[in-house]
Amino acid sequence: MYRVFSGVKPSGDFHLGNYVGAFRQWVADQREHDAIYCVVDLHALTEEIDPAYLREKTYEAAVNLLSVGLDPEICTIFAQSHVPEHPRLTWLLECTATMGELRRMTQFKAKGYGQETVRVGLFTYPVLMAADILLYEADRVPVGDDQRQHLELARELAQRFNSRYGQTFTVPQAAVPTVGARVMDLQHPERKMSKSVDSPLGTIYVADEPAEIERKVKKAVTDTDGEMRYAPEEKQGLANLLELMAVATGETPDEVAARYTRYGDLKQELAAALVELLRPMRERRAELVKDPATVHQVLRAGAARAHEIAAATYERAAAAVGLLGLGC
Ligand code: AMP
Ligand code: TRP
Repeated sequence: MYRVFSGVKPSGDFHLGNYVGAFRQWVADQREHDAIYCVVDLHALTEEIDPAYLREKTYEAAVNLLSVGLDPEICTIFAQSHVPEHPRLTWLLECTATMGELRRMTQFKAKGYGQETVRVGLFTYPVLMAADILLYEADRVPVGDDQRQHLELARELAQRFNSRYGQTFTVPQAAVPTVGARVMDLQHPERKMSKSVDSPLGTIYVADEPAEIERKVKKAVTDTDGEMRYAPEEKQGLANLLELMAVATGETPDEVAARYTRYGDLKQELAAALVELLRPMRERRAELVKDPATVHQVLRAGAARAHEIAAATYERAAAAVGLLGLGC
C-alpha cells in the first residue's frame, strides 16, 4: 500500500487555498492509501509567533483537519513536536544539504534573503520539511504548487543520502492538483491566497459565514475588458474565479467560462457554490469545538503511531551515517 504524507503549518486560519490546493486531496487519499498528516508546529517557529497563539492554532489545526473530513479511524493525524525524531533527522539531513541549495529556495528568497536578522530556522526550514517526509517513507506528498521546490529538495536529499550511505530512504513524489494548485488572493490576484498576509477581503477562510463568502466573492478583483475566457496569464483575477468554480463543479475552467457571459453571474453562482462546498466543514467544526477531549485523544493516538514509524527510520539513518547505537 502506498504511503501518503503531508503537513500544514498552524500559523493562522485555514483558507480556501489550503482546502483546494491540499486538504481536498488529503481527504480523498485517506480511503485508498496509508495516509499520515502532520500539524507542523516546529515550522511555525521560523517566524515570529506568540506562544499562546501557536498553542491555540495547533489545536485548531487538528480541529480543522477533522472538520474537512479526515477520519482518524483510517488515517493518522499528529503534531510534529510530539515526535522527537523530526529534529533528530533534520540534523542528519542538514549535514547532507548544502548552503548553495538552500539559498536557491524561492520561499526563503522571498521571505528572508539578505536580512541579517532572519532566523536560521527559516533558512533550514526545507530540511525540516524533508525530514518530515523521509521519516515516514512517504511515496506521495500532496501539496499545493508553492511546495514543489521543497519537494524537489527532499527527493534530492533522499537520493544523496542513499548513494552516500546505502539505501535508507524512499524517494517521494509530489502530487500537485491539476486545477486549483494555486488559489490566488481575491483582491491581489497576482499573489497566492495566504494566511501570513493580512488581506481581509482577499482571503476566504474555511470558517467564514455564508454572508462573508458572498461579500468577498462579489468584491473580487477581475478586469475591465469584460471578456469571459480562461487566460491565467492575462486575466489572473477572472482565471482564479473560473478555477474555483471548476473545483466546485468538477468541470474544466474553459467549460465554466463557456457557460457564462457576465462576470456578475459567475460571481453570484460561485459564491453559492463555495458556501455549499464549505458548509459541511463549518458544521463539523461547530460540533468538534465543543469536544476537546476527542481532539486531544486523536493527537495522542496519532503521535503514538507516527512515533513508531519515525523511530525505526531514524535508527536506520543514524546507523547508516555511523552513529554508535545504544545497543553498541
Ligand atoms: P500552509 O498553510 O502554508 O502550511 O500550506 C498547507 C498546504 O496548503 C500546502 O500543501 C500548500 O501548498 C497549500 N496551499 C497553501 N496556500 C495555497 C494556495 N493559495 N493555493 C493552493 N494551495 C495552497
Ligand atoms: N512547508 C509546508 C507549507 O508551508 C508545510 C509542510 C511542512 C509540509 N512539512 C511538510 C508539507 C511535509 C508536506 C510535507 O505548506
